[in-house]
Amino acid sequence: MIKVKSLKPLFTAEAIADRLSEMGEQISRDYKGQDLICVCVLKGAVFFFTDLVRHIDNENLMIDFIRASSYGNGISSTAEVKVTKDLDLDIRGKNVLFIEDIIDSGITMSKLLPMYKERGAKSVKLCALIDKAERRETDIHIDYTGFRLDRGFIVGYGLDLAEKYRQLEGIYEAEIEEAVI
Ligand code: IMP
Ligand code: MG
Repeated sequence: MIKVKSLKPLFTAEAIADRLSEMGEQISRDYKGQDLICVCVLKGAVFFFTDLVRHIDNENLMIDFIRASSYGNGISSTAEVKVTKDLDLDIRGKNVLFIEDIIDSGITMSKLLPMYKERGAKSVKLCALIDKAERRETDIHIDYTGFRLDRGFIVGYGLDLAEKYRQLEGIYEAEIEEAVI
């Protein structure tokens, strides 16, 4: 079991909202006059996704959801990535933007993106709220990044530690006390 000693504030709800409105403007410009399917990578991206898509001005925008698991109930990565809930929409010939909470090792999205490219999408891009570079193991390209972070395990605004803390409005660094099994 993981014990959290303290939660250190990193990004406030206001800072997140400001950044999302900038990202929404950029995405609106980039996909102007084109179709766009925004895909929420559940569960971590759920609040980021719902807030961000409402900043995207595009009358052809559609939303969809996938659920991918690469983490157990802990804080370390496993290389196995499973899609446990797939898209409902047909993405053939469409522009698809995956919206993910955090890119850490990069393994999850570097396994998922090629799978969806193979389905014949016109374009497949990646948007992540947090780019955490410290444990990167792949050379994955992030097209839209909210914030960059060197290290630390963060929670809140959808991000969890063993399924907890997702509902916090801001983002916090979790200081871990001990890992007792
Ligand atoms: P990756 O495959 O290592 O890039 O892992 C990505 C997934 O790991 C994210 O979608 C998160 O669910 C989880 N993850 C990685 N770092 C953190 C963190 O600091 N806090 C919460 N979840 C994290
Ligand atoms: Mg995730």
